[in-house]
Amino acid sequence: MEKPIISRISGALVVAKNMRGARMNEIVRVGKEGLVGEVIRLQGDLAYIQVYEDTSGLFVGEPIERTGESLTVELGPGLLYTAFDGVQRPLQVLRDKAGDFITRGIVASALPREKKWDFEPVLKKGDIVEPGAIIGEVQETKSIRHKILAPPNIKPSKIKEIKKGTFTVEDTICILEDGTELKLYHKWPVRVPRPFKKRLGPEKPLITGQRVLDFFFPIALGGNAAIPGGFGTGKTVTEQTLAKCSLVDIVIYIGCGERGNEMTEVLVEFPHLDDPFHEGAPLMDRTILVVNTSNMPVAAREASIYVGITLAEYYRDMGYNVLLLADSTSRWAEALREISSRLEEMPGEEGYPPYLAAKLAAFYERTGRVIPLAGEKYEGSVTAVGAVSPPGGDFSEPVTQSTLRVVGALWALDTALAYRRHYPAINWLRSYTLYFELMEKWFKENVAEDYPELRRKAREILQKNAELEEIVQLVGPDALDDHERLLLEVGRLIRDGFLQQSAFDPVDYSCPIEKQYEMMKVIIKYLDMGEKALKNEIEIENIIKPELIDRIIRLKEKPLDEFRKEKEEVEKEIEKILKPAEEPVG
Ligand SMILES: Nc1ncnc2c1ncn2[C@@H]1O[C@H](COP(=O)(O)OP(=O)(O)O)[C@@H](O)[C@H]1O
Ligand SMILES: [Mg+2]
Repeated sequence: MEKPIISRISGALVVAKNMRGARMNEIVRVGKEGLVGEVIRLQGDLAYIQVYEDTSGLFVGEPIERTGESLTVELGPGLLYTAFDGVQRPLQVLRDKAGDFITRGIVASALPREKKWDFEPVLKKGDIVEPGAIIGEVQETKSIRHKILAPPNIKPSKIKEIKKGTFTVEDTICILEDGTELKLYHKWPVRVPRPFKKRLGPEKPLITGQRVLDFFFPIALGGNAAIPGGFGTGKTVTEQTLAKCSLVDIVIYIGCGERGNEMTEVLVEFPHLDDPFHEGAPLMDRTILVVNTSNMPVAAREASIYVGITLAEYYRDMGYNVLLLADSTSRWAEALREISSRLEEMPGEEGYPPYLAAKLAAFYERTGRVIPLAGEKYEGSVTAVGAVSPPGGDFSEPVTQSTLRVVGALWALDTALAYRRHYPAINWLRSYTLYFELMEKWFKENVAEDYPELRRKAREILQKNAELEEIVQLVGPDALDDHERLLLEVGRLIRDGFLQQSAFDPVDYSCPIEKQYEMMKVIIKYLDMGEKALKNEIEIENIIKPELIDRIIRLKEKPLDEFRKEKEEVEKEIEKILKPAEEPVG
C-alpha cells in the first residue's frame, strides 16, 4: 500500500491521499515537521485534515503519519496556574523550546512530567474502583485539592495494590485486579462530553459580585449566559471581571481569536492577582487559561473551546463549581466558517456552515449542575459565559441568534450606554434571565424574604422610567406630575447608584450580594418615603434633595462595615423627608 502523503494544501486545510482506514477525528502528524492535524472528512482514500499549526512551508507530497488517537487532553494535577494553547500545549514550554516565534511541530506534553506530587489514597486494597471514582487526592495548589479520578471508561474492578507517597504523573499509583494500571492523570477526547450520573436543575445562583447581573439577571450554577456587544462595549472587561470576582472554585478562561494584546494583558496581569476568597493564595491557583489569539492558527481556535470545556467538566467531576469564560465565541464561529468554506461545504446564512447552531447548542449543553460518577457527595457544576461579537453590534446576525436560542441568560451590551460611559454597559431593558424563578427560593432563604419583591419593584421603576423619559423628550419635563418626577429621580438613582459599577474601582469592582440587597432597600425606602411625603402634601423640592441623592449614590463606594454605618445615617435622613424643617415659631 502506498504511503499517505499531502495532495493539496488550502490554508488550515490539508488534503491527504492514501488514507484508507483513517478514522474521523483521528489525530495525524502532517508533513516533515509533524504538524498536529485532525481528520474532519473522509472521502474514498482522501482525508481532509484541519491543521492546528501554521501550514505555510508545507509541500504537496510530504508525508502524513497517523496516530490512531483522537484529540485528547491530559487531565491530572498541574493544570491549574497554566496557560495552554488551543490544543493544550503549555505556552511556557512552547516558548522555552522555540523562542517567541515559530512553534511548529513541537510536541509538548500538557502536564509536567518531572514534577512530583504527594498522593494520598482514599481507597484501600480490596475496594472496588468504579468508573470515575475518586481514588485519592493531591494538593495541586495552595487553594485546590485535586481529586485523582479513575477514568470514566474503565470497568469496575477491585484494587490489587494502591500506593501512598510522592509520584510523577507517569508513575503507577494503583493496580486493579483486572490488570488496569492507574496514574495521577488520564486522557479524555475533547469532543466527547464526560459522563455523569445525574443532571440537576438550576436552583442556586452563581454570584458574580456584579449588581446588574446578580440582582436583575442572575445566572444559575450550571447555567449559561451570552454577552453580545459591539466593539468596545465591555465584553472583555466583563469576562475578566467575572474571572476575578465570581464565587466559584475553578475558572477556565478561553481567549479565543481576539487580539493578542488583550490576552497578553491577562497573561501578565492574572499571575499578580490575589485570590479574594483564599487568603494568601494567588488567583491563578484556581485558574486555567486557554489562549488562541487572532495571530495564532485558526483551526486551533476551533479546538480551544472543546479543550476548555473538557477541562471544566473534569474539575466538575471532582465536585467543584467551575466557571468557563469564552471571549469570543464569534471568533470561534468564524474559524468554523473558514474551515467549512475550505471544505467547499454549502454555506448557510452569512457564509456560516448550516451546522453552526447545532455546534453552539452542543457546546452549551455541556454546562450543567450534576452528580458526577464519583457520587452524590461530589455535586459539581460547569457554568459558561460566552462573549459574542456581532459585527456593528447588530444582534440579528446568525452567531448571536443561534446563541440566544440555547442560553438561559442574555446580558446585552449596549453601544449607547458605553458611549455615555455607563459601565457595565448592560442594557437593563433588553437583557433577561430564565433562571430567576427557579432560584427564587434560594434568594429568599439566603438573602431576604422580600428579595424577589424588591427586584420586581426595581424592574418596574426602570420600565416606567423608559416611558417617562420618552414623554420628557417629546413634550418636556413640565408634562410630568410630582409623582412622576419622583419616579424619574429614583430611576436615575438606580442607574447611577446601583447599575453603574466600575470594574476598576478598588471597592466597588465586586459587591457582595447582601450589600446589593441593602443598597436597593435604601433606594426603595427613599421612593416609599417620597410617595408618603407627596400624599402629605410636602413640596417635591423638599423630597428631591440633591445632597441626599448624592449620598445614596455614593453608598457603593463604601466597604461593607463602613457601608452599614453610612446606610443607617442615610436612612435617618430619608425619614426626615416626612418632617420638613420645622418653621421657627413666632
Ligand atoms: N465594567 C466596566 N467598568 C469600567 N470600565 C469599563 C467596564 N466595561 C468596559 N469598560 C471600558 O470600556 C473599554 C472597552 O471594553 P472592552 O471590554 O475591551 O470591550 P470589548 O471587549 O467589548 O471590545 C474598557 O477598556 C474600559 O475602559
Ligand atoms: Mg474584547
